Amino acid sequence: MTDFTATRAMFDLPEGVIYLDGNSLGPLPRAAKARVAETVAAEWGEMLITGWNKAGWMAQPMRLGDRIGRLVGAEPGTVVVGDTLSIKVFQALASAVQLRPDRKVILSDTGNFPSDLYMADGLCRMLGQGYSLRTVAPEAVEAAIDDSVAAILITEVDYRTGRRHDMARLTAKAHAAGALAIWDLAHSAGAVPVDLAGGGADFAAGCSYKYLNGGPGAPAFIYVAPHHAEAALPALSGWLGHAAPFAFDLDYRPGPGIERMRVGTPPVIQMAALEAALDVWDGVEMADLRAKSLDLGDLFIAGVEAACPMLTLATPRAHGQRGSQVSFRHPEGYAIMQALIARGVIGDFRAPDILRFGFTPLYIGAEEVGRAVEILAEVMAGGLWDRAEYRQRAAVT
Ligand SMILES: Cc1ncc(COP(=O)(O)O)c(C=O)c1O
Repeated sequence: MTDFTATRAMFDLPEGVIYLDGNSLGPLPRAAKARVAETVAAEWGEMLITGWNKAGWMAQPMRLGDRIGRLVGAEPGTVVVGDTLSIKVFQALASAVQLRPDRKVILSDTGNFPSDLYMADGLCRMLGQGYSLRTVAPEAVEAAIDDSVAAILITEVDYRTGRRHDMARLTAKAHAAGALAIWDLAHSAGAVPVDLAGGGADFAAGCSYKYLNGGPGAPAFIYVAPHHAEAALPALSGWLGHAAPFAFDLDYRPGPGIERMRVGTPPVIQMAALEAALDVWDGVEMADLRAKSLDLGDLFIAGVEAACPMLTLATPRAHGQRGSQVSFRHPEGYAIMQALIARGVIGDFRAPDILRFGFTPLYIGAEEVGRAVEILAEVMAGGLWDRAEYRQRAAVT
C-alpha cells in the first residue's frame, strides 16, 4: 500500500495553498532543492569539467530514462531523457514516417495539444512529396485509420478535457492497418498507469515537469520500442546521438538503440532536480495512485455539480475514459480561475472556456478537495469572480 502521507511530506507547498495544477507544473520536491544546491556547489563548483565523468553527468539521460520508463511500462533501455516534448514528438514522427516510406499521412485528432500538430505539420512541410497531417475529432480516430496512414500521433489524455484514449485499442487498430502508433504521455506519465510495452506502442514521448515534478523546463523523454530501436533513424542527428561522440567523426553514425535519440548537451542541473523528484516515486504503486486520483476526481465532480449548477462538466465521468484532471466549462472561466487563485485554490484556464483542476495523490487529499469545492461554491454563488482585475489576461493562463 502506498503511504500518501509520506509522499505529501516530501513536497514543499506554500502555506494556505490548495494546489490543483500539478497537471501543468508539479510542485517542488524537498529533496530537489537540496540536490540542485549540491549539484551546483559540489559538482559544478568543485569538479568543473571533470563532472561529466566523475559525477556521471553524461550518463544521466539514460539513467533517468530507465527510471521514467518503469513508470510508463517501458522495457529497460528503451527511454532516454532530453530536450523538450515538442522536440521529442518531432523525432518520433520523423523516425516513424521513415519506417513507413510508402505512406504519406500522419493522423491525429483535434483534441491534441497544438504543439504536436504544429510539429507534425512542420515535418510534412519540410518533407514535401505529398506528406500531410490529417486531424479528425477524437472520437473519429479509430475509424479514420486506413492504409494511407504512416503513423497515428495521439495524446493519451486530452490536455483540456482530461478525456483518455484507449491506447491498446488504437495501437492495435493502427498495427492492423500497417501503421505505427506514437503516444504523447504528457498528461499520463505519473498520472495514470501506462503500459507501453504491453500495449505495443511503437514510439512515445512525454514531459517531466507535470506529474513527475521535475521543475519548470524539466527535460522530456522519448521511448522507442525495442524492435524499432536499431532501424529508427534520428532526424535530429546531434553529436550525442552518434555512435562515438568523442571520435568527432565527420560522418554521422547512429548510436546504439535509444541512445541515438539523444541530441546535444544534457541540462545537468535540471536533471539533478528531476532525479530527486523521481525518488518520490520509489515507494508508489501506480494502482494505488490511480485509485486515489479517481476518488479525488469523483469527490470534486460530485461537490461542484451539487454546489455550482452554472459550471458544465467537460471531463468524462467514466473512470476508464479519464486521466487525472477534471475540467469544467464556463464562458467566464478565466475570471473564475483568477478569483480562485486569489483565494489560494490554484488550477488553470485553457481557452476558450475550460477551468482545469489536477488531482495528484502524492500531495493532495480529500480534505483539500472538499475545501476547494467550498471556495469554488462561494466564488460562484457570490459572483466573486465578476471584477475587472480578474478579467485582465496574463501572458500565461
Ligand atoms: C500534450 C502536450 N504535448 C506537448 C506539449 C509541449 O511540451 P513542451 O513545451 O515541453 O515542448 C505539451 C505542453 O504542455 C502538452 O501538454
